[in-house]
Amino acid sequence: MTDSVKLNAAGKDLDLKVLSGSVGPDVIDIRKLYAQTGMFTYDPGFTSTASCDSAITYIDGDEGVLLHRGYPIGQLAEKSSFMEVCHLLLNGELPTKDELDKFSYTISRHTMLHEQLATFYRGFRRDAHPMAIMCGVVGALSAFYQDSADITDPQQRMIASHRLIAKMPTIAAMAYKYSIGQPFMSPKNNLSYTGNFLQMTFGVPAEEYVVNPVVEKAMDRIFILHADHEQNASTSTVRLAGSSGANPFACIAAGIACLWGPAHGGANEAALNMLREIGTVDRIPEYIARAKDKNDPFRLMGFGHRVYKNYDPRATVMQQTVREVLGELGVTDPVFDVAIALEEMALSDPYFIEKKLFPNVDFYSGVILSAIGFPTTMFTALFALARTVGWVAQWNEMISDPEQKIGRPRQLYTGPTQRDFVPLADRK
Ligand code: SDX
Repeated sequence: MTDSVKLNAAGKDLDLKVLSGSVGPDVIDIRKLYAQTGMFTYDPGFTSTASCDSAITYIDGDEGVLLHRGYPIGQLAEKSSFMEVCHLLLNGELPTKDELDKFSYTISRHTMLHEQLATFYRGFRRDAHPMAIMCGVVGALSAFYQDSADITDPQQRMIASHRLIAKMPTIAAMAYKYSIGQPFMSPKNNLSYTGNFLQMTFGVPAEEYVVNPVVEKAMDRIFILHADHEQNASTSTVRLAGSSGANPFACIAAGIACLWGPAHGGANEAALNMLREIGTVDRIPEYIARAKDKNDPFRLMGFGHRVYKNYDPRATVMQQTVREVLGELGVTDPVFDVAIALEEMALSDPYFIEKKLFPNVDFYSGVILSAIGFPTTMFTALFALARTVGWVAQWNEMISDPEQKIGRPRQLYTGPTQRDFVPLADRK
């Protein structure tokens, strides 16, 4: 391992320090580059840029590795619960039984929403996209929970984190209920985090909702698979918003807005819509041809990833879960057959092999969510619900860093150089 690299720039010979983490690529410390050379680095899209140091999640894109605080995602998905993973991401360790009981109790006592927030929903059209509602209602939380908005107080930061994790299922379920004109369902503390979400979503006042254990386990696993993912676009958005000192609710609302994009969390909705549009296996070659056509903006939604260039370990678990859930629910969905066939065809096509395009976490999730009964418009809201714990864990890590500064990238300026104002009368 080298401890520095040489750079000749602006007529100067520089020795730039190399920093090493516990695992993964080393980084070249360029923090003083501009001061020493008057030059910036240039990396739109941040393909070669480490924006921070973090101890939360590690991804090896070539090996298809995803670790949360060192634990492989496959083991967490198979052996733990979303509440355990939330504790792990927030506190750094898997909880003991007592710690888990206390954490789960704390979260369950924050699931209620201030009654006035329910009126926010009335301001939306019934056909408003749930992500529009999530952006608005989560941002509005800062107007109701000022007692946990002081980011300099670790205690308040943790209360805000617990509130966000606890209230997201309530907010998402209310968005769904509002869209179908059914009454909001209150949280039930005797149910699990995920069971409570299912009853708030699919329960009705007229009868006692019975949680289906198969669906509860599948949903809990889907939450685990979406919990955190290093410095992805929405997490980077949360960190950048947090670096200005914005309150945690505003930061998470910013993350929700970024996640909504079809290149990011919005891909799960787009992927299922694409699979439904393809409809039958015999139409797959037409869509693969379009995805390869440089003149066609169409991309296979749920395929490709900035980091994973081998396979997304979450997609593997998700595909297994689809088989289990459809089998146990006795549901057959032709869309799943199309998804399996599309993966096989794409992964044997030189274009996808050469560009290292594999199914990502969003490719299969929609099949399960649809089988459980969610409309496609709710898919990204569920992603936001699960990713909230990752966002708040990363936000807390950044705010706790005494050296953190406001994020302020520079640019390569390509506009007009200085020129004098032309009065209106003189403009041709
Ligand atoms: C998520 O970052 C994260 O960790 C995100 C996430 C998380 O948990 O937070 O994992 C969640 O966002 C998963 C990704 C969901 N998005 C999609 O499924 C949308 C479809 N995929 C793409 O738009 C794309 O693959 C991205 C956005 C995911 C990654 O884009 P990159 O890394 O910027 O790669 P690129 O756009 O430069 O593509 C490289 C090449 C291009 O061809 P060339 O210009 O080199 O000729 O691959 C092609 C692209 O045209 N390509 C695709 C493709 N994805 C990339 N071609 C067809 N179909 C696709 N899906």
